Amino acid sequence: MEKLIVHGGSRLSGTVTISGSKNSSLPILAATLLTAEQCVIRRVPDLSDTNYMVRILGTLGAEVERASGRVIVAAEKVIPQAPYDLVRKMRASVCVLGPLIGRLGEALVSLPGGCIIGDRPIDLHLRGLEALGAEVEVKGGDMKLSAPDGLRGAEINMRGKFGSTVLGTDNVMMAATLAEGRTVIEGAAAEPEVADLADFLIAMGAKIEGAGTRTIVIEGVEALGGAEHEVIPDRIEAGTFMVAGALIGDDLLLENVCIRHMGALIDVLRESGHSVEEKGADAVRVRAGSSPQGGEFTTEPYPGFATDMQAQMCALFATTPGISVVTEQVFPQRFMHVPELNRMGANIRMEDATAIIKGVERLSAAPVMASDLRASAALVLAGLGADGTTEVNRLYHIDRGYEHIDDKLRRVGAKVERVKE
Ligand code: EPU
Repeated sequence: MEKLIVHGGSRLSGTVTISGSKNSSLPILAATLLTAEQCVIRRVPDLSDTNYMVRILGTLGAEVERASGRVIVAAEKVIPQAPYDLVRKMRASVCVLGPLIGRLGEALVSLPGGCIIGDRPIDLHLRGLEALGAEVEVKGGDMKLSAPDGLRGAEINMRGKFGSTVLGTDNVMMAATLAEGRTVIEGAAAEPEVADLADFLIAMGAKIEGAGTRTIVIEGVEALGGAEHEVIPDRIEAGTFMVAGALIGDDLLLENVCIRHMGALIDVLRESGHSVEEKGADAVRVRAGSSPQGGEFTTEPYPGFATDMQAQMCALFATTPGISVVTEQVFPQRFMHVPELNRMGANIRMEDATAIIKGVERLSAAPVMASDLRASAALVLAGLGADGTTEVNRLYHIDRGYEHIDDKLRRVGAKVERVKE
């Protein structure tokens, strides 16, 4: 296992190039299973999660080649079983379900199981696929889906207790591309990653309208063909570097950023007194404000404030003067970073799914334990702003979602070292 040694006290300046989106790449890679023809996906970030997805595609029978961000997949023959030992390592592997049932009329995929950020059920995915005519049986930890006569278009409401579901919308949209007739998904997730997946499916020959809004209409087609696609910039990686800039940035330029995907975060950073300046269509310059003040936000489905940025903002607010209030509405239990930040001297009190943060002057370094991807990012940020040297253990969490984070941070002046535990 590796850990990151983070020396506090440095300032950041220089340029960071943001990678392709993890959360776009995963369903897009899964979507290549919908065709026997070759697909080429560019700007796939080099992460353990995308590596798992590549392995899953291989296990399902696809031929996959990967070189510097480009993944070429030819899924001429596909088997319908995704085994537990691969699926359990990454919850997002559930997004092979839609392509398998859509193309093969059957799928046997292990239930992905729990997750540190909450319960994470997949009832809405199954409800949507059932509405398309799949028979669903959950037994022995596996989901067995079958539609021997193919899927049929339907009107489906995907809204759940916590709002829309991103991967659930992806699964139903992918399956519906090959269903007979028209599917209307109401209460669809409108995240940019869903729209990016739809763009890839459209390039493959699918007929989809409305992706990126709450209603998606899919007209089923007989077959899909090969396509090329470049994934969108990772808005959460970009957001994490924006927060680093707000915390300790003298002059941090982020390139390959899709600014229009980041409105909610940019608003909160500006309201707290930091400078986020647009530089053309795809770059932003971030500088820490001279007299920042606490802020308030609630996480919501897109275009609201992203849950995947909540932990990093808690790290920023921990040393921002005044009181900040952060409410989690997407994953109410996603606050594993709070006790670790408090160990570093933060003053954060939880009231149900709301963190009340009283800004302290400085955090002090401590060995801390990363519990999930975004919590780890928050601890790295906290360490960069703290006095002394912080050890962030279990670095594998961060390698799931941040491409070469230590190299990128070092290049703009951070003092971080990756070492074996
Ligand atoms: N939900 C249900 N039933 C379902 C599916 C979801 O109740 O069948 C609930 C969840 O428990 C949660 C809410 O709906 O309360 C939203 O979950 P969603 O299904 O949208 O999450 P997801 O699709 O599994 C993706 C991202 C997550 C991100 C969430 C929310 C990928 C690979 N993952 O997960 O990203 O937090 O959407 O935006 O796209 C991350 O990158 O760190 C990460 C966790």
